[in-house]
Order: sequence, then structure tokens, then C-alpha cells
Amino acid sequence: MQGKSVQLLYCLFLSTLISSCHNSAEKKLSTVDTLNRKWWKEAVVYQIYPRSFKDSDGDGIGDLKGIISKLDYIKSLGITAVWLNPIYSSPNDDNGYDVSDYRNIMKDFGTMQDFDSLLKGMHERGIKLVMDIVVNHSSDEHEWFKQSRSSRTNPYRNYYHWWNAERGKPPYRYSLFDVNHDAWKYDSLTNAYYLHYFSRKQPDLNWENPKVRNEVYDMMKFWAAKGVDGFRLDAFQFAAKDTTWPALPSDLNTKFEKYYGMVNGLHDYLKEMNKEVFSKYDVMSVAEGAGQTFEDAHNLVDAGRNELGMAYAFDGVNLAKYPSTPNGEKYSIIKFKEIFSKWDSAFANNGWLSVFLSNHDQARLVTRFGNDAPQFREQSAKMLITFLMSMRGTPYYYNGDELGMTNIRFNKIEDYRDVQTLNEYQYQKTHGGNLSEFIIRKAFESRDNGRTPFQWNDSINAGFTTGKPWINVNANYTTINAAVQDKDANSILNYFRKMVQLRKNNLALVYGKYTLLDKNNPAVYAYTRELNGKKLLVLLNFTANNATANTGINLLKAKQLISNYSTASNKVLRPYEAAVYEL
Ligand code: GLC
Repeated sequence: MQGKSVQLLYCLFLSTLISSCHNSAEKKLSTVDTLNRKWWKEAVVYQIYPRSFKDSDGDGIGDLKGIISKLDYIKSLGITAVWLNPIYSSPNDDNGYDVSDYRNIMKDFGTMQDFDSLLKGMHERGIKLVMDIVVNHSSDEHEWFKQSRSSRTNPYRNYYHWWNAERGKPPYRYSLFDVNHDAWKYDSLTNAYYLHYFSRKQPDLNWENPKVRNEVYDMMKFWAAKGVDGFRLDAFQFAAKDTTWPALPSDLNTKFEKYYGMVNGLHDYLKEMNKEVFSKYDVMSVAEGAGQTFEDAHNLVDAGRNELGMAYAFDGVNLAKYPSTPNGEKYSIIKFKEIFSKWDSAFANNGWLSVFLSNHDQARLVTRFGNDAPQFREQSAKMLITFLMSMRGTPYYYNGDELGMTNIRFNKIEDYRDVQTLNEYQYQKTHGGNLSEFIIRKAFESRDNGRTPFQWNDSINAGFTTGKPWINVNANYTTINAAVQDKDANSILNYFRKMVQLRKNNLALVYGKYTLLDKNNPAVYAYTRELNGKKLLVLLNFTANNATANTGINLLKAKQLISNYSTASNKVLRPYEAAVYEL
């Protein structure tokens, strides 16, 4: 009931907005009603990694009841949608990305009743819920795979990709997570190999089989019928395969996206999924990966294609690399601006994208893209928030980044839990790799850095669990935690809340035209966002030094809407200074 009235109010608010914009639309840039408005374009998505968010029963693993206990915190952020990483039954080879039953909840996380309460609690607070759908592969412990591997004539055999061993070895395929990088695993039970792009416990589903596709659509409808509001399709650009299995070029290991992504058939599957599922509900849909080119991305998301609502492109998030330049720079700011500007202009008129710089597959945002040294952590975290919340596209924000949580930087392999890091370590070990260099590199880039428990307060284990956490808590929880920041008006957390509100109050930040200024400035990212006569200027110093922006705009008459420094700025932007002005 409460959810419905929130929805009604929202509609009323939108229609008032649309009509008031109508009245003053004459000479304006573009009218709101030509924008093809959608709730998911205006959403701010908060990603929750359930395993690390909040443990309610002391087993050291986050769970659904834990999330429920934090719903008021989640609402206080102002975010409008939550994307939950997979919560289905799973043996957890890849923390839930290996699903053994798509219609049940992982034991560690709770029960279906807990899920129903969580969904209800979110809806009561006006928050939408987006589910992670992992159907490029299942777990090898899924009933389908158990049947499939049991005999060559089993009706489920064709649910997966098999290569009979009497044909010789199958053409090499690279596996992202395998200890030998080999995506074909020999199974003596039926003298055949099965395909797994990820770990051996994640066999790839055969999307050419209509039975597989229908099973997936039915499963998605099961969740849609429960009232979930969207789907994030995991690794879906890899779902279609060329099953003539041609030999692939020798750069496959380093450029696997190029050969595995967007293979013929993918668009047919998406169109079918859209017809069978998305078109029947008011749900958002987003795929991981956007192909190799703008054209690939447009083919996934353009209106009229009837495939997806949006996609994530990885060019931006992939930019920050393990420091390798003589100056230790993690990325070029000019390149960063170029990437985001190009993607924006390519999608200015059709299609929609997500904007993000971190997720559960990345190390921490402030460590990679900002500066987690004590004197710069707060300002740089706030600067990155200003960036993400002021770009065109739907912003996705990963839990813990609103506190400026940092990389834990494990210094020994035993501390890691992630299948990718552990198996790659084994690979390096058996292939004579430099293991100490590997540990240094992973301290910067391993995704376990982003998976340490959420830092709630300064009590034992950061208030995450009363038991032994499944992965170590970052020792800096005594100073970096939600309780401390909640009370501090100038904290990163409170800045995040303000910046989310600023976006929600300014449609120009969602839909407005983006114009890059001072393009070749190596330190400052400056741009304007304009809609219906409203013009906002965003100034971001991406460096630890003072810097000047040459925008040609006189700030004397501008109104500052937000800034990450408490004293007014002048011509020089201080380290990591960020500000938004109305011109
Ligand atoms: C996606 C997920 C990642 C997972 C992989 C295999 O990239 O984001 O966490 O390991 O797919 O499912």
C-alpha cells in the first residue's frame, strides 16, 4: 500500500514537472517530454555485495536479514535502486556467481521468506530492487549439469557445451579463472570435455538450446512475478558461442572480450528475452559489457531494438591500472576525459548507459581513481562522487565507497578468498611467474579489496559480524566507518547524500547536454550540463596539486551548489577540489 502511494506521488511529481517544463519550453535546448524519460534513467543505483554487507547471525557471512536491518541506512543515502549480487543457492566457488538453484536462496544468506521481507522493506521505502542474473553459466552442482554429465544421451546433455574426446582435443579456449587458463575440462565419466569460460565449477550453458532459454525466461518471470524491478545480466555478452569451434587467434588470452563477446545469435537471444520477460513488466535491464565498439553498444540498447535498457562499458573502469609509469601514475586524466566524453557523445541522442568506476569485480574506488593517502582520501573520494553523480547515464555506486573505504592490500596469498586471484596465483606458480610481484600487483587490483566487510562502526569486526568474518576486515575501520561519518556533517557519507540529492533535484544532471571544457588540461575535468535553460558547471581537480581550469566562464555571477571544501574556492582549484555551479 505504502509502496503504491509513493509511486502515485512520484507520478504526480513527474507530471507536474513535465507540464511546468512544457510551459517554458520555447527557446530551450530540449524539452523534458522529448527525453523519453524512464525511472531507471533517473535512478541512482547502489550495489550491495550481500556476503560483505551485514551479518545477522554471527556466522561471519553477510545475509539478507543483515541487509534488512540496514534498510533505513540504505534509504538515508537517497539512492533509488539497489542491485544485489547473486543470492541464489550456490556452492560459492565464485561467491554466488555459480548458481546451483535459481529459484532458491543461498543457505548462508537466509530463506525465501527473508527475501520477500527484504523486497517488501525496500518497496516500502521507495527503493527498487535489481537482481543479478547469472546465465552464461551455472554451477556444476546445478541439477541440469549433474544430469548433463551423467551420460551422452541424457536429455540435459545439450544444456551445456560438450566435445567428445574421440574427436581429439577441442580447439583452445581461454578460461578467465582456470588454474591452467584452459576453458575445456576433461570429464572421464563420458570421455568428453565441457566448456567453462570461468572456473571449472562454472560450466557454460548452451544458449542455442531453446529449452535452456525457456528455463531462463521462466526463472526470470518467477522473480518478476515476486515484484523485482530489474535484472543485471552477468557476463551475458559471452552467452552466444560459435559452436563450429573455429581456432581463435593467438592473442585470445589477452583479448578474450574481442573473440568471446557479441557473437552471432546474442541479439536474437536478447530480443527473445525482451519479448518473453522485459516487455511484460516495468523492469530495467542492464548487461555487463557493451561489446567492442559504439556500434556494438548501440545494438544492445537503442530504443527500437527491443533488447536492453542499458549496458556498462568498461573503457573507463579499466583505465586505472597497477602503477607502471615511472611517476607511478595510475591513469592519464586526459585519456579519462576523452573516454567519458566519447561515450557521452556517442549516446547523446539514442541509447542509454550506466556510469560507474567501481563494483565487486574491482579494487576500491578511492584507491584506484582517487588517492587513499590520509591527507587526500576524503577530498578525492568526494571529488569522485561529484563526478559520478553529475554525468549523463545512470550512476552505479558500490557499497562502502560512500565511506571512502580503501584497499586492504593483503600481503600474502592465504588472505585472499577470490577464485580468480587464487587460481591465477597457482597458474603463475606452475608457469614460473614472479610471485612477489604478483602479490604487489594484487594489493592494487584484486577484487577482494572491494569485498572486505562493510565498516559500520568502531566495534569489533567493524560491526559487520559477531563471529569470524569470511574475509579480513580492513584495520582502518576504527576511523573509517559509517557511525562516525553519519555524525560528521562534512564526512564523505554526508557529501554523498548531498550529491545524490543534487542529482535528484536537477534533471539537467540526468538528461542534460554534456559539454567538455578545457579538454587538454592534464589535471582538471571541467564540463557543463544543460537542460531547458538551466546550465550547471562541474569543476574537478583530479590531482594532489593545485590546478587551474581555463573554462572561459566567469564564476563571479555563478551560484555554487556544492563543493568538497568548506572555504570558498578562487581561481585555483585545491587538491582534488570539486564543485558544481549554476550559471
Ligand atoms: C561477472 C561477475 C563476476 C563473476 C563473473 C563470472 O564478471 O561480475 O563477479 O566472477 O561474471 O560469473
